[in-house]
Amino acid sequence: MRPALIEIPSVKDELGNLSFLEDLPGLPFTVVRSYWIWNLPRDAARGAHAHRVTDELFVAVSGHFEVTADDGCERSTFRLDDPSVGLLVPRLNWISVGSFSAGAVLLAFASTRYDDADYIRDYDQFRRDARSRPVSDSV
Ligand code: TYD
Repeated sequence: MRPALIEIPSVKDELGNLSFLEDLPGLPFTVVRSYWIWNLPRDAARGAHAHRVTDELFVAVSGHFEVTADDGCERSTFRLDDPSVGLLVPRLNWISVGSFSAGAVLLAFASTRYDDADYIRDYDQFRRDARSRPVSDSV
């Protein structure tokens, strides 16, 4: 499945903005884990892996950065810079994250508990796994 941008419900008024995740239309998984990445050097290159069964949603809660997702056929790059927009990153996408602004914070929501065995860190192995993915294996 291809990555997609999802609008996150937000209440915006003169007191500031509040965004929330609850039964988010378009989010095809239940959130089991959250993590956030912060204190990022501008030239940090994160990711460079795919997940076998984990689906994720990335949000730039501060600053901006770029996410490149490659499903084995197509590669797309998204600039995340708006806390009211999330990027759905389905399993079996090779993800690279970089071009971090000063103060950037990436908040991630994931469909599984952390499990190192869920990671594919070899790009050739990822291509083989992506090619043999069943048609029904999508979120
Ligand atoms: P990793 O997913 O490789 O980070 P990135 O893709 O941003 O470069 O994780 C970095 C380290 O953090 C690795 O040692 C595993 C650990 N980690 C956890 O313990 N729990 C988690 O939920 C995540 C995402 C990572």
